[in-house]
Amino acid sequence: MELRPLGATGLRVSPLGLGTVKFGRNQGLKYPQPFTLPTDREALALLDLAWDLGVNLLDTAPAYGESEERLGRLLRQSRRDWIIVTKVGEEFHDGDSRFDFSAAATRASVERSLRRLGIETLDAVLVHSSGDDQAILEQEAVLPTLRDLQRAGLIRTVGISTKTVAGGLQAVECCDLVMATYNLRQREELPVIRAAYAAGKGVLIKKGLLSGHLDVAKSDPVQAALQLIYAEPGVSSVVIGTLNLTHLQANAAAVEWAVANPLRIPLA
Ligand SMILES: NC(=O)c1ccc[n+]([C@@H]2O[C@H](COP(=O)([O-])OP(=O)(O)OC[C@H]3O[C@@H](n4cnc5c(N)ncnc54)[C@H](OP(=O)(O)O)[C@@H]3O)[C@@H](O)[C@H]2O)c1
Repeated sequence: MELRPLGATGLRVSPLGLGTVKFGRNQGLKYPQPFTLPTDREALALLDLAWDLGVNLLDTAPAYGESEERLGRLLRQSRRDWIIVTKVGEEFHDGDSRFDFSAAATRASVERSLRRLGIETLDAVLVHSSGDDQAILEQEAVLPTLRDLQRAGLIRTVGISTKTVAGGLQAVECCDLVMATYNLRQREELPVIRAAYAAGKGVLIKKGLLSGHLDVAKSDPVQAALQLIYAEPGVSSVVIGTLNLTHLQANAAAVEWAVANPLRIPLA
C-alpha cells in the first residue's frame, strides 16, 4: 500500500488505518451487532495482518476502554514503525462518557497514553470532541496545552476529531490534522476535507463504512464507500475498525482499488 502524506506534518500514512475501538470497548457503541472483545492472540493476528497488508496507522483513544493498554502490550512484542493516533478529552467509565478539556487533564492524559503505549513521543494526538467543536477550540485549554507538549517533544502532531462542519473548518486553521466523518450517507463534512487539502493539513476519515451499517443491497458497498472517500485527493487515510481478518483483507484491497480508480467528483 503506497503511503500518503499526512498533510504537511512530514508523517506518511497508509491509505487504510486500523481503528481499535473494538479492541478495548464493547459498550455504548452504535455497531449493528454486539460483540465480545478479542483475546490478545486475536488482536495480535489483526495487527500482524494489518502490517503485512501495508497498514502503518493505528487509531486509538483513552475512551476506547482497554485499547491503548492492549496496543502497548502487544506492540512491545514486535518493534514496528507504526504511526499511532490517540486522543484526549474523553474518558469512558461504567457506560458513560465524561469530557475534560482542561490543561491538567490534557497533560495527565498524554502522559498516561505515553506510558500505556510504551513510547516516548505520540505521533498524533486528537482532541476527542464532545460535539461543541468551536467552543473547545476557542475557549478550552486543551489545544494550547497540546501545543506546549508538542514543543516539549512529547507529541509530533496535533488535531481534533470533529463533529461539526464549522468546527472542522476552524480546525483546518489551527491544527495540523483533522478527523472527519465522511461516508455514503453523511457528506456534510466534505468542505472540511477540501479546505484541509487546500491548506496542506492532514485528513483522517472516521465512520467511512457507516460504522458497519452498510447497504447490503448494493453489489459491493465497501468498494462504493471507499471510492467516494478516495475521490477526494485530500484524504490521507480512512480509519476502519474491524475484528474480522477477512474484512481487514477486503478493506485493504478495496482501498487500493479506490485509490487507483478515483470517482471524478467536480471540485466545487
Ligand atoms: N474520534 C471519534 O469520535 C471516532 C468516532 C468513531 C470512530 N472513530 C475511529 O474510527 C474508527 C472507525 O469508525 P467506526 O468503527 O465507527 O466505523 P467504520 O470503520 O465505518 O465501521 C466499522 C464497522 O464496520 C464493520 N466492517 C469493517 N469492515 C467491514 C467489511 N469489509 N465488511 C462489512 N463490515 C465491515 C466492522 O465490523 P467487523 O468487526 O465485523 O468487521 C465494524 O463494526 C474507529 O475504530 C475509531 O478508531 C473515531
